[in-house]
Amino acid sequence: MSFDTRILCIGAGYVGGPTMAVIADRCPHVKVTVTDINRQRIDAWNSNDLPIYEPGLDLVVGRARGRNLFFTTDVAAGIREADIIFVSVNTPTKAFGEGAGKAADLQYWEKTAREILANSERGKIVVEKSTLPVRTADAMARILNSNSRGIRFEVLSNPEFLAEGTAVRDLELPDRVLIGSEETPGGIAARRAVADIYATWVPRERVLEANVWSAELSKLTANAFLAQRISSINAMSALCEKTEADIDEVAHAIGTDSRIGPKFLKASVGFGGSCFKKDILNLVYIAESYGLHEVADYWESVVRMNEWQEARFVRTMLTNMFNTVAGKRIALLGFAFKADTGDTRESPADAVARGLLAERAHVVISDPKALANARRDLEDVTGQVEFEDDPYKAAAGAHAIAIMTEWSEYRTLDYNRIYAAMEKPAFLFDGRNILDHRALFDVGFNVFPIGKVALKHF
Ligand code: UDX
Ligand code: ADP
Repeated sequence: MSFDTRILCIGAGYVGGPTMAVIADRCPHVKVTVTDINRQRIDAWNSNDLPIYEPGLDLVVGRARGRNLFFTTDVAAGIREADIIFVSVNTPTKAFGEGAGKAADLQYWEKTAREILANSERGKIVVEKSTLPVRTADAMARILNSNSRGIRFEVLSNPEFLAEGTAVRDLELPDRVLIGSEETPGGIAARRAVADIYATWVPRERVLEANVWSAELSKLTANAFLAQRISSINAMSALCEKTEADIDEVAHAIGTDSRIGPKFLKASVGFGGSCFKKDILNLVYIAESYGLHEVADYWESVVRMNEWQEARFVRTMLTNMFNTVAGKRIALLGFAFKADTGDTRESPADAVARGLLAERAHVVISDPKALANARRDLEDVTGQVEFEDDPYKAAAGAHAIAIMTEWSEYRTLDYNRIYAAMEKPAFLFDGRNILDHRALFDVGFNVFPIGKVALKHF
């Protein structure tokens, strides 16, 4: 089969894998190759057991793989034949040196840029898909265009706004696609070429074009605004618990104001995921580096509020369980940072588990999709931690259960059966406000929701 465009994606993770699968599915005329240095990951993409769990992804991959979607570890060959190269390698927070703990670690990105340069015999469009600090594209363009062979690269920013758990839907029906480039004839032509690919299935008016720095900064800003809404509602949840207001009623009341809107107002034990904290700290670092300390402090408080909410959850457990959880079995239901994903990066469940372990609790973790990641994340902890597939077994003999992830199966567990097998008094901490608190109280539990009055039998 002949293809009119060849796309390569470097990095087959949560962003690169699903994004390329949907492009390939929607554009049979485009050959899409996805590469990664991690052979295990590539092998998994080529198997029936994909390396990430995302509803509907197996169907999309199944339709395109072997037709115009290919997974390989041969990065060099992929670079040679590609017209457009998407880069979605990881950009973790720097753990060392200048900007440690805040700035993005760009070593993978720069390595990739040099690899592209070494293997290119003609000019290409290079698209940054990973979230990167503002002006990274500029730095990359300088590395790529510093070659003495006269090869010209156009570097674009096309930030990905998909959320995990809904990645396929977000990619198939995006609110918008954003493509930034230099405002030069070459830059504009390159962004049009990428826009044309998306326009195969996304309405044109939803494909936004911008200058490259606006595109880069928009991604950080979107995540900062989303996280800020959660920290704002979580701040109010603490006040609700003191005043007998109900956070869901407050969220509903303010969400009906069309200027505020109803989404992202669900109070919780805290936000997690690979993006929010990392991107905000990145924004903070950028603001500081320009001397904008008030801007940096403003955004940093969103992360501080989130950490406080996680710590507050542990404190609520401790104080209500008679100020000691030492030796007590506590079941955490859910470890993923949200439902419908196996991803546990920055999960609030991690902070809660560690907080409880520091109090010497016996922590049992259950999750329908994330147990393997939970085991890996908690490899370093000492103390009593157990992993259990079956939520009923996890809860048997426990003094408390805590809902950490809003998995739908947790709404329909047999809580009479769970209660009967627990130590008494039995405590239930609903970190996601997904259960029927009054009914659980009637079963016999002492119930502690987020941002609502606790229901106690004593
Ligand atoms: C986020 C952005 O939504 C997405 O656009 C960007 O591309 C990547 O970062 P993601 O991290 O996958 O996506 O999940 P998201 O749905 O945004 O949830 C993040 C965290 O916030 C989760 O822990 C979730 O449980 C929590 N959350 C979300 C709340 O606590 N309350 C809410 O109302 C919404
Ligand atoms: P994201 O959530 O941003 O997609 P992931 O960590 O899930 O991040 O995926 C990033 C992927 O990029 C990983 O699978 C990693 O192995 C891969 N990667 C990192 N550096 C390189 C590189 N130089 N060449 C190819 N793949 C890389």
